[in-house]
Amino acid sequence: MLGPVILAASRSDKMRRFVSAAPGTKQVVDRFIAGETVDQVVTVIEDAAGRGLELTLDVVGEDITTPEQAAAARDAYLELIDRLKDLGLGTRAEMSVKLSMFGQALPSPTATLDGAASGPAGTLLGGHDLALANVRPVVEAAAAIGTTVTLDAEDHTTLDSMFAIHEELRKDHPETGCVIQAYLFRTEEDARRLAAAGSRVRIVKGAYKEPASVAYQDKAEIDKAYVRILRILMEGEGYPMIGSHDPRLIAIAQELGRKAGRKPDDYEFQMLYGIRTDEQTRLAAEGHRMRVYTAYGTDWYGYFMRRLAEKPANLLFFGRSILTK
Ligand code: FDA
Repeated sequence: MLGPVILAASRSDKMRRFVSAAPGTKQVVDRFIAGETVDQVVTVIEDAAGRGLELTLDVVGEDITTPEQAAAARDAYLELIDRLKDLGLGTRAEMSVKLSMFGQALPSPTATLDGAASGPAGTLLGGHDLALANVRPVVEAAAAIGTTVTLDAEDHTTLDSMFAIHEELRKDHPETGCVIQAYLFRTEEDARRLAAAGSRVRIVKGAYKEPASVAYQDKAEIDKAYVRILRILMEGEGYPMIGSHDPRLIAIAQELGRKAGRKPDDYEFQMLYGIRTDEQTRLAAEGHRMRVYTAYGTDWYGYFMRRLAEKPANLLFFGRSILTK
């Protein structure tokens, strides 16, 4: 029952201020967030690459309120891509982006422009169009160093826009990936549409607070849906990316992959930085491609609260670290 309460708190400014200022927070945040700057995260990137792990990098931050912040998010990714190029790690690390951070939720009429976010003949961009204008240069820069971008899935109200942007980006960069969430009723149909040649699709259980009108609420139902969707992706022609730490689902994915005649590098596993790290190393050692979703940056609140909600035992750890400070 705690999960939904924590997810509700993840939208509260008051809680944001409380959690951010609490003594002991940093110690727990550090478990899930690889650092605050590109410089800090470089060591983590090099270390993971040295252990045979691939990465998908996420500059945290989602609740932006101005087009300038959206442009800053774009620039943070462009800076990251430059660093990967300098490090020669372009082929081992891809990017995960949240379109909300690129301006997807901003209202069109009030949005003003800067540089690459302008539309044809200086039209004002906002919301969907602004997010597309901001993400496009990131996808292009990633392609130029031999890597890709995956669009994260946020709450269900944002998904039609995310899939439309995904389709648009794929016209020039068909390798652009997207995420689908097993808890949503719509996802089996999305999976069927997306399981086509050349597509890259990450399947996850889903991390947002969604109403019963659009999403399964029961864990067992979500797991069953996950397996049905896994089957669609494995039997399809695309490249499935299995985002989960759940040992049962990982074993089922391996079995479905084998039955579909896929070799271990015809799909990949993905886990979050700081979670089940032994299992990450084990799967990589078995010959699987293992990609670690590595989040960094200063605006970690929303990302951090979703990690607490997934495993309420984390909350205990968090509470203890506050009390012992
Ligand atoms: P489950 O929650 O059942 O966890 C299985 C086991 O893993 C737990 O028993 C525990 O041992 C461990 N574990 C899981 N979460 C933990 C945590 N926070 N702390 C400590 N241990 C934990 N969601 C979304 O809505 N949109 C997205 O774009 C993404 N992107 C994404 C990328 C990648 C690579 C991953 C792995 C996950 C996401 N998610 C996501 C999050 C996803 O929806 C889901 O909330 C988490 O992966 C937890 O679900 P599991 O499948 O791991 O199973």
